[in-house]
Amino acid sequence: MSKPLTIADLKTRARRRVPKMFFDYADSGSWTEGTYRANEEDFAKVKLRQRVLVDMTNRSLATTMVGQEASMPVALAPTGLCGMQHADGEMLAAKAAEEFGVPFTLSTMSICSIEDVASVTSKPFWFQLYVMKDRDFINNLIDRAKAANCSALMLTLDLQILGQRHKDLRNGLSAPPKWTVHHGIQLATKPFWCMDMLRTKRRGFGNIVGHAKNVSDLSSLSSWTAEQFDPQLSWKDVAWIKERWGGKLILKGILDEEDARAAADSGADAIVVSNHGGRQLDGALSSISMLPRIVEAVGDKIEVHLDGGIRSGQDVLKAVALGARGTYIGRPYLYGLGAMGKPGVTTALEIIRKEMDITMALCGKRDIQTVDRSVIAEVGF
Ligand code: GLV
Repeated sequence: MSKPLTIADLKTRARRRVPKMFFDYADSGSWTEGTYRANEEDFAKVKLRQRVLVDMTNRSLATTMVGQEASMPVALAPTGLCGMQHADGEMLAAKAAEEFGVPFTLSTMSICSIEDVASVTSKPFWFQLYVMKDRDFINNLIDRAKAANCSALMLTLDLQILGQRHKDLRNGLSAPPKWTVHHGIQLATKPFWCMDMLRTKRRGFGNIVGHAKNVSDLSSLSSWTAEQFDPQLSWKDVAWIKERWGGKLILKGILDEEDARAAADSGADAIVVSNHGGRQLDGALSSISMLPRIVEAVGDKIEVHLDGGIRSGQDVLKAVALGARGTYIGRPYLYGLGAMGKPGVTTALEIIRKEMDITMALCGKRDIQTVDRSVIAEVGF
């Protein structure tokens, strides 16, 4: 098989290797998937400015996100069920990120636990928090993230109710898969995935099993969120979570200027302009199209990050040019992981780095810190 050259190549390979219900879980938006598509499509509307006869030696992509070093302005996004794209997926991805020098964010809804990931990494990773009604459990999760030496807490604000993803319902998504004919067929056609999965004991929600009380059906994300997540989450909760955590706090899921101003007032260290990868409010605007407005509203008060729709290093460069200090990739690394395990995550990062580096040079810049709106020829939305 030839070497993957693009994130789309990794996606094709992941589709061949990962059981349909888990591949589809990653490759899904809610309802019509209009916002999911817009996230990618709107990046293509941003046009770059070609410059010539500018010294392009000694280029650097190095930066910081919430004051922490990153070899490029990209972190791995928190993604639910990552350990179902590949056995022990979160541990493999965290190691790949560490070697590459970019932050890894572990999801509350991960398969490997906080402690599993801490056991295979030597640098601090970030932890993403969902807030459930059971506050003892949340306090305990925050304390576990501290004990594991996590260096930032990312609080997700846009998923207190789960957006409907039709594919998940049609596939009967659950982790681990159920013993039904439907799931059996999906697994039987993916023998390599099954062999790897049989070698690990990590097949359920590792942060939750054995820690949360009164949980009836943990295998189903939709019933679990409906039962456990706190629909009354408010700005007051941000205050006590910030206090309990006591470290760097990133608020994820801001897509509106008014919310961005409230986030800046909350004392958090960064916001992530995000619509949850088009998985929550279908019909919302794309992340990249909202970025300039949010930067305009709060860019001088709080660090602004972005996720959603990044499929290339060019997309990262465009986001940085429009004011993002950092970006996150979710699906691109999940496709790499599903396709090839840890080397696939490294490949996804390498593809993005190379694209960003060459694009930056052809735009006449040598240092990502100097990339600004001047590299954009036309915004297009
Ligand atoms: C969970 O974060 C999801 O989007 O499925």
